[in-house]
Amino acid sequence: MKHKEILELLNEMTIEEKIGQMVQITGDVFLSEDTNSILTGPLKDLHLSKEKVYHVGSVLNIVGAEKVKKVQDEYLSKSRLKIPLLFMDDIINGYKIAFPIPIAQGCSWNPKAIEEMTEISSMESSIAGANVNFSPMVDLSRDARWGRVMESIGGEDPLLGEIYARTMVKAYQGNRLSKIGKMVSCVKHIAGYGAVEAGRDYNTVDMSEREFRQYYLPAYKSAIEAGAEMIMTSFNILNGIPSTVNKWLIQEIIRKELGFEGIIISDYGAIEETITHGYSANEKEATRNAINAGVDIDMMSGIYANHLKDLCLENQEIENKVNESVLRILTLKNKLGLFENPYGNSNVVQEKTYLMNPTNLEKAKKLTQETFVLLKNKNHVLPLQKNKKIALIGPYIDNIGITGSWSMFSDRTKNGTILDIFKEKIGKDVLYAKGCEILRQEEINKILSADGLPTVHVENESQKEQEMITSALQIAKKADVILLALGEHYKQSGEACSRSNIALPENQIQLINELYTLSKPMVLILFNGRPIELNTVEEKVNAILEVWFPGTTGAKAIVEILFGEENPSGKLTMSFPQNVGQCPVYYNHYNTGRPHHSNLRYVSRYQDIPTESFYPFGYGLSYCNFKYTDMHLNKHKMKKNETITVTVKIENQSNYAGYEVIQLYIQDLYGSVVRPVKELKAFKKAYFQSHEIKYVNFEIDIDMLKFWNDKLEYVAESGEFKVFVGGDSVNVLEEKFELLK
Ligand code: NOJ
Repeated sequence: MKHKEILELLNEMTIEEKIGQMVQITGDVFLSEDTNSILTGPLKDLHLSKEKVYHVGSVLNIVGAEKVKKVQDEYLSKSRLKIPLLFMDDIINGYKIAFPIPIAQGCSWNPKAIEEMTEISSMESSIAGANVNFSPMVDLSRDARWGRVMESIGGEDPLLGEIYARTMVKAYQGNRLSKIGKMVSCVKHIAGYGAVEAGRDYNTVDMSEREFRQYYLPAYKSAIEAGAEMIMTSFNILNGIPSTVNKWLIQEIIRKELGFEGIIISDYGAIEETITHGYSANEKEATRNAINAGVDIDMMSGIYANHLKDLCLENQEIENKVNESVLRILTLKNKLGLFENPYGNSNVVQEKTYLMNPTNLEKAKKLTQETFVLLKNKNHVLPLQKNKKIALIGPYIDNIGITGSWSMFSDRTKNGTILDIFKEKIGKDVLYAKGCEILRQEEINKILSADGLPTVHVENESQKEQEMITSALQIAKKADVILLALGEHYKQSGEACSRSNIALPENQIQLINELYTLSKPMVLILFNGRPIELNTVEEKVNAILEVWFPGTTGAKAIVEILFGEENPSGKLTMSFPQNVGQCPVYYNHYNTGRPHHSNLRYVSRYQDIPTESFYPFGYGLSYCNFKYTDMHLNKHKMKKNETITVTVKIENQSNYAGYEVIQLYIQDLYGSVVRPVKELKAFKKAYFQSHEIKYVNFEIDIDMLKFWNDKLEYVAESGEFKVFVGGDSVNVLEEKFELLK
């Protein structure tokens, strides 16, 4: 459609039809034989009449080519102007092929790998009819108590957030949205959602503008610069005003400063929640606040549908805003080619051939392997020797529930469990015992009841627990090595999964303690969606492989790594805390006036735990052993228009080949505002043959030295800097240089 035709269409629309475009509801309503039953059921709280339902512009949670067609046909059959619906979904870590959860993807430190995962996910989901994906989530995340850190692609680092945000938006959208395999990327959640107080979901966010600009804004900015067509507001308040109605945020920062011209959608029911926040006095005011702030689409509340018309009648300016929003929505539908073909790229035949295709599964497995982080490998217990007797123990050994809490559509059945793959590799006589459940029933019941599901009573649970441990001990006694697969329940991380206890579940710790009495080498494979507290178990095991929730091909990927067919190369994007009391703990903190370099009393430290994190940002081992030496700067004074070349010698002192992520950090020693002890400024992922030596170079330029100064200007200040290079954020070589006036 030409732009002129879109304007004509807009002119033809009634005010009700226009407002409808700005409303999003669940798509189920159009699938029901009996629309009335849904209106009195799921949509009752929205107070939407049937007429209003048939005006809505978009639906969420409908995916599958056939379903999409059914919904679109039903909708269009009753719509006067035949403006197609937009289909929006949460396809967070893949559609049928579940990829590792986002926090894991980030640990690959490989934008190319993330691009490939996103492209497959985008292809699969657009074939299945999705037009918009509520991804990526680029909220900077420093607090492991917050369940949504599992969705955070850049973890605690702004640079990773920026790079990954750009990569994903481009991979979803390509250069033409109507092209096969492409879809709209909706970046979320603007803004600062990762900084909710005490890690409690939906909680308050209060931070200085400098902090916001320095750490939280860059990833959103980069997504916008990459062309993201849609942005979702966050549930939290930002400095006293709910993000969804925050004019400063949406108008001043997002639209004016960052030049965003796409669509702003509220999060689920978030406009209505501004009343509960204590900001809008009633629904009408919430509507006025949201439209004035610039929210184009109201996700899952009846607010716009029920109040926007009155506001338009009262105030021409509001009607103008409605026209602007509808124009944006129609324009996006046009870019997707929906006026020519309302089903988009959905295709029932391709669904059969493309989804879960073997080539993509093989690719997925390789990409998944890059996301694993080897946290410990004492005495090189890994890789496992095939001739050793291995006891497989734990609730994740024979479990396909390893795709994470956002993976609603994935095909979990086809790719086997660790147990299946072991049987394939080393024959049928595998030593296996479950050892324990993931959680005690009491814990599971808390999750079930929060989901409104019936709880379950287990008779004699502690006796059964003891029996499981006893049989695990019997199996373990027969083995040379114990392989333990433990971790969080997949419903313990994700939205509304904040936790004040982030250790392994108690029953799992008990299992480890009992097995430890056998004095056999133990390898722990960890499944989890957040950094967890490992202080009580770490010393009892010889190796720890962090696999997060690795997705469809996870089991195969794990077993190949365990046997050394592939070499782990992931590095943490979030620091692991010593214990939960240390949260939030992150590498790019300030020094304080009394840093903890001694055991003196009046320094900034805890009495009971170290100040450093348990595992630092950027950390991760490999079967290789990399040695960093000979750091060299080509000069130690730099003018503002110059660069400095940093070179470092890296030697792989092992018989294995593998990847290393070489990281460059900078510290600005004195500034008009204090600067962090270290900030990641560049990294390279390089492949080393066994015993290979490489000289790796980085260029330091002026942009790497810029920050938001005391006057809130983004500048580099002359003076002294430190530069660090290493394989993580702690074990680094360092040099100094000066930026001249
Ligand atoms: C609420 C979540 O906060 C958001 O991330 C998600 O995309 C929407 N619901 C839609 O399901």
